[in-house]
Amino acid sequence: MKRSTSKNRAACTRRNFLKSGTATAVGLAAAGRASAAAGNETLAIKGGSPAVTYPKAKHDEASRWPLYGPEEEQAVLELLRRPTYQPLDELEADWKAYYQMPYVKAQFNGTSALASIFFGLGLPPGSEIMVPSYTFFATIVPMRLAGLVPVFVDIDPRSMDMDVNDAKKRLTKNTRAILPVHWFGNPADMDDITAFAKEHDLIVLEDCAHAHGTSLKGKMMGTWGEMSIFSFQTTKPLPSLEGGMAMFKQQEQYERACAFGHYEMPRLFPKDSKYSKYFSTGLGLKFRMHPVAAALARIQLRKLKKRNEDGVKQVRSLNDRLIELPGLYEQKTRPEAQRLYYDANCLFIDEAEAGMTREAAVKALRAEGVQVSAFVYPLQHKLAMYREKEWWHHLPTIPELPGSEQCNATCMALPYFTSDVPELIDQYVKAFQKVWAHRKELA
Ligand SMILES: Cc1ncc(COP(=O)(O)O)c(C=O)c1O
Repeated sequence: MKRSTSKNRAACTRRNFLKSGTATAVGLAAAGRASAAAGNETLAIKGGSPAVTYPKAKHDEASRWPLYGPEEEQAVLELLRRPTYQPLDELEADWKAYYQMPYVKAQFNGTSALASIFFGLGLPPGSEIMVPSYTFFATIVPMRLAGLVPVFVDIDPRSMDMDVNDAKKRLTKNTRAILPVHWFGNPADMDDITAFAKEHDLIVLEDCAHAHGTSLKGKMMGTWGEMSIFSFQTTKPLPSLEGGMAMFKQQEQYERACAFGHYEMPRLFPKDSKYSKYFSTGLGLKFRMHPVAAALARIQLRKLKKRNEDGVKQVRSLNDRLIELPGLYEQKTRPEAQRLYYDANCLFIDEAEAGMTREAAVKALRAEGVQVSAFVYPLQHKLAMYREKEWWHHLPTIPELPGSEQCNATCMALPYFTSDVPELIDQYVKAFQKVWAHRKELA
């Protein structure tokens, strides 16, 4: 499905709305009435009735995740009755077929998959990897186990993904690889990133912990880079309670990464492999995925496409109406991207354009019954361990990252609804319209 950026979409929506003749008059009248009605109602924060009257238990249930049912229960039960590691082989076979990648390895979780690919690089200690600071620790910290050092790169504050122009400014003579993250399922600019990497002979890696089954220009995320990882942790788009996957294009990197965390693997490598002699020792760790997790992940993989599509539909049914409000934006997505949503639906407020602060908007919306919060993610480069010499080959440079700061200053997280809840969505829209109609008062 082709998708447009939030700004384009806002423009298209209004334009299409205006183009549609009779429907236009009816629609405009209805929108005007809704807006006028919203303006006449007293804000809940000032003692009025809340716009969201959906019962609390149903409201919470609307974002339930994971969505396990009888099929998952049966698979776990069978495994308890007849314990086997077979689901691991089956998951790897399914994953390989789905992604059409030559080498894949199931992992204990996304973090161990990242540790494996960093080791798999086989780069000399002190080599640097460009990575967003706006990410989970696991994208960065495990690199130190292979003597690697992060170069912190900024994000685009609206897409929440790596800003390749900022990366260009931060290249050093030690930079050897680049590791973008597809944040909240929104594909990073892999076309620009791979072009930049090619120019400077950098190895491209991908953190797809949030991006199962997504693509850019028809090419799946996880297949752009030399190596990539996925997380199957409970909140993720493909949840197996805990679990992960690593994918590889090259045999050498695959064998090296597998020897690190899977002592049983070197036995299976071709005799002329550099790593086959490490049978029965491996190279130090055991990252085997739990078979129960593998059984769950296999079932989730079969359901992934439909769930991703349903999720996009859910978010569109809400966001298409919310982004009509002045100063309210959604996560910017490339028109050629097939994204997914999970865990949260991120909106951004431009305080000057909206005429009120994020804090005022969040407070008023919460009083209306909307489950919204100011979304602030810890920026890695500001944390203690990146400033302590003892953990690193050499100390990472601590930069100013205004895009990451702006994202944290403007983002508001709404729930990601995982079931069809049109009535609740209407109430959310009403709550936003009401708060926006009173924004001068809230300023
Ligand atoms: C961007 C990112 N990368 C990696 C991971 C690590 O995955 P796991 O929790 O499975 O170890 C996470 C987990 O939240 C993540 O958000």
